[in-house]
Amino acid sequence: MKIAMISSECVPFAKTGGLADVVGALPKALSKLGHEVVIILPLYGSVDIAKHGIKPFMAQLGVWMGNTLEWCAVHKAHSDGGITVYFIEYNKYFQRDGLYHDAWFNDYPDNPKRFAFFSRAALQLLRDMYWMPDIIHAHDWQAASTMAYLKVWHWNDPLLAKAAGVLTIHNIAYQGIYGSEHLDYTGLKLENFKPDIFEDHGRLNYLKGGIYFAEMVNTVSPTYAKETRSGPLSCGMAPFLNNKGDRYTGILNGVDYALWSPENDKHLPARYSARDMKGKAAAKKLLQETLGLTVDPKLPIIGVVSRFVAQKGLDVVAQVLDHILKDMVVQFAVLGSGDKLLETYYGALPARYPGRVGSYIGYSDELSHLIEAGSDFFLMPSQYEPCGLNQIYSLKYATLPIVRATGGLEDTVEQYDEKAGTGTGFKFNVLSQTAVYDTVGWAVSTWYDRPVHIDAMRRSAMAKDFSWEESAKAYVALYERAITLKRV
Ligand code: ADP
Ligand code: GLC
Repeated sequence: MKIAMISSECVPFAKTGGLADVVGALPKALSKLGHEVVIILPLYGSVDIAKHGIKPFMAQLGVWMGNTLEWCAVHKAHSDGGITVYFIEYNKYFQRDGLYHDAWFNDYPDNPKRFAFFSRAALQLLRDMYWMPDIIHAHDWQAASTMAYLKVWHWNDPLLAKAAGVLTIHNIAYQGIYGSEHLDYTGLKLENFKPDIFEDHGRLNYLKGGIYFAEMVNTVSPTYAKETRSGPLSCGMAPFLNNKGDRYTGILNGVDYALWSPENDKHLPARYSARDMKGKAAAKKLLQETLGLTVDPKLPIIGVVSRFVAQKGLDVVAQVLDHILKDMVVQFAVLGSGDKLLETYYGALPARYPGRVGSYIGYSDELSHLIEAGSDFFLMPSQYEPCGLNQIYSLKYATLPIVRATGGLEDTVEQYDEKAGTGTGFKFNVLSQTAVYDTVGWAVSTWYDRPVHIDAMRRSAMAKDFSWEESAKAYVALYERAITLKRV
């Protein structure tokens, strides 16, 4: 099968969250199964051209947007798994450091134009290089319009007309909803500005249109697929997802263990595995030193690596943290950025609790790996979580997750059974200060009172296998179904 993967993020080139990890890893797994995959990304100002060996590929690519012909260029590189990656270079839209927003987290006002253009340019590129895909696989609202462009503009195109559309929703709260004045520029045609297609209370909704036009739609865990078919977690999309019937499913994300496993991790002071855990102690010591925590192997560390957004539940943690630190002998290691109030709160904690709380406000790949390895517990009290990767990484690093039982967190973490000493983490159901306090307390008391259980849980956690192999096979089945649907 020939698959074109269209995304606004992909490691190691451009990343704000888990989407980048998924688009970096899934193509490698598909390629191992014998499929040919290309990835198409925007060339953001922040992409390191020299480091990644990105070379010019096509000097001019003409892209019609409404009545405007935009001329861009295309560059090319290979990802570590040998996958070809194309970059759409258009300085007017992408020559900025941020992917979606400026350094103050204000969304760029021209995002509706930037990503409609990117989606259209990606298909135009495939045409201009005569690459005939079986599948166009788009990710999130930023690439969702490719599903529509395929049908609206390429229905009769000898190269693209046969391609089936698959849309993966990584987070349904981000739909790309903008003023209807952008419709002309997108070229998506007034006849598609209807309530079951792109129209959403008088505005233009990119994700909704993508859901309508895609042959198959999926999200990134079975539980989130269920949760989004009704109620508030669907963010208004339930009727449109239900219209798809069984053409909307959930496929759990996998993990790229070449990057995220203590046996391979290049960021750690020493590697470790279930057979020899000395490296975990070394990582803990380095983490304590790096973040100014009291160096003591006996103190449990609770790690947090997160975008600071409402989804992640860290506002609730902030409300109860003083209480936790008053009552429990525990350390915190926090890495994150986003919401300014949360940045100020978590940034000030080390001064308020010297030696007990360490934090770094910003983005650091290296520190994110060290926190995974050096912590004893990983806190992810999300309001909702389509999949969540950090808790799955944590399992492999023997860092037991403390999570709310929602979405992928529910699907990947097994509740601790205090009698049997089994499980891989600590789960609670309702996001509240009490639940966070009690569940953190449960984990911390287990650390001190039942160390044998902690050891057993660590072994079970490390033995879990969430590699991409199985999930990639599920995507192949989804693609096959999409191709069949396209043919009828
Ligand atoms: P989401 O995609 O909703 O942010 P995931 O758990 O799926 O949540 O993925 C988050 C990814 O982003 C992980 O790889 C995590 O390590 C990374 N990440 C999040 N915040 C930071 C940060 N401040 N610095 C470095 N990496 C981060
Ligand atoms: C989104 C979700 C996260 C998921 C990631 C990758 O950012 O918030 O839960 O793991 O996409 O699919």
